[in-house]
Amino acid sequence: MASYEETLKAKYPGKLHAKKVVEYIRTKIPDATGVIYVESKKAKLHEDCDQEEHFRQRRSFYYLTGCLLPDCHYTYDISTDKATLYIPAVDAESVIWSGLPLSPEEALQAYDVDDVRYTSDVNGTLTHLASSAKTVFAVPGQVSDDITFLEFDDKNLSILKEAIDNSRAIKSPYEVALIQKANAISSAGHQAVMQRVKHASHEGELHSVFLAHCTAQNAKNMAYDVIAASGRAAATLHYVRNDQALAGKLNVLLDAGCELDCYASDITRTFPISGKFTPESRAVYDIVLRMQNECIAMLKEGVRWDDVHETAHRIAIDGLLELGILKGDKEEIFASRTSVAFFPHGLGHYLGMDTHDTGGNPNYADQDSMFRYLRKRGTLPAGAVITVEPGIYFCKFIIEPALKDSATSKYIDESVLEKYWDVGGVRIEDNVVITPTGCDNLTTVIKDADEIEKLIASS
Ligand code: GLY
Ligand code: MN
Ligand code: MN
Repeated sequence: MASYEETLKAKYPGKLHAKKVVEYIRTKIPDATGVIYVESKKAKLHEDCDQEEHFRQRRSFYYLTGCLLPDCHYTYDISTDKATLYIPAVDAESVIWSGLPLSPEEALQAYDVDDVRYTSDVNGTLTHLASSAKTVFAVPGQVSDDITFLEFDDKNLSILKEAIDNSRAIKSPYEVALIQKANAISSAGHQAVMQRVKHASHEGELHSVFLAHCTAQNAKNMAYDVIAASGRAAATLHYVRNDQALAGKLNVLLDAGCELDCYASDITRTFPISGKFTPESRAVYDIVLRMQNECIAMLKEGVRWDDVHETAHRIAIDGLLELGILKGDKEEIFASRTSVAFFPHGLGHYLGMDTHDTGGNPNYADQDSMFRYLRKRGTLPAGAVITVEPGIYFCKFIIEPALKDSATSKYIDESVLEKYWDVGGVRIEDNVVITPTGCDNLTTVIKDADEIEKLIASS
């Protein structure tokens, strides 16, 4: 893979993305032409307070501009291939608090656009564009009240969001580089937490080590709330309390990833607090690692994600049969969906500007419990970035109903299961980019159980 630092020396490829979006629109509306209009999120104060809310750029705007500023607008004239960014002018009142804003010249240098104007020019420019372009494409609910499309013959509010969301599924090399850099920072953060765990007394300390590491690398935003779950809390998939003592617990499940210029990393590691897995924890860890390694080995362009997810379940069933937690015929166990009680979520999801990124076409209404939470359905295209995150969990809330249901209870040996509740849950999560011949793993934090034990023991 190209070095991400080298790739990131260029500008964020907003115009390449605009062309991809037009290509998508033309698959639905052949010969479509006109103006694409998007705007950034607005800076906003908290209710009853003079402090600004945390600002997170709107995805559609960032995708076309690479610009992190609030209160901006953007037009792209399809026929002339001209991208224009509109930025706020200097507001003398705010300079004392916020410093000078970017000038149009600086913005032209920074972003992949052909022209930069002030926001006071947006409506005039839209009127001018409407004299040669019939259609304006915009996203419903993402157009300010003071923006006027009156001069356009046609206002299309139905296709642009779909076009952007689908275009986002296949990443440009620059986007992959951002995700790879976020991964490099988060991977080192995970390793820093592993090195602290033996000396820490509660989950918050581990959370803070990860945040400190990422902030020191200028990645102060998290892609999602850090999950630092010790002991049985690891069976809660999105546990975010992170305030419990570590004493008396076996393992920590750390699911944490920073965001870099709007692009996410999403990494999970599970490791023993003492530096040594118990036999039960190690056995479960090794099954989950086998699930992950074998699934990653299957990946390449054109592979059906549903099939990879099924493979993860089959390996989980084999492993749980070996441990004696499951019993009976493995095909029957698979068909009865008993393994869903131990691995209730999907194998992974697209990753990009959203942690659970767009374009995966999930079916949350699927009647088949094995596939209901699979956030990507169908085949994988080259250039997609996806998480591979198998897990095995011992969650009473989920397993107890399976023990009461005659369709599944006959496959579970409760007396063996009894020894595993304190394992809590094991998840191992990496981020990979799909290629024509395989995949490249962007996550570099160690996951071999012996290596993890050695690192913790030596810390
Ligand atoms: N960190 C959220 C997830 O893995 O989906
Ligand atoms: Mn994930
Ligand atoms: Mn995760």
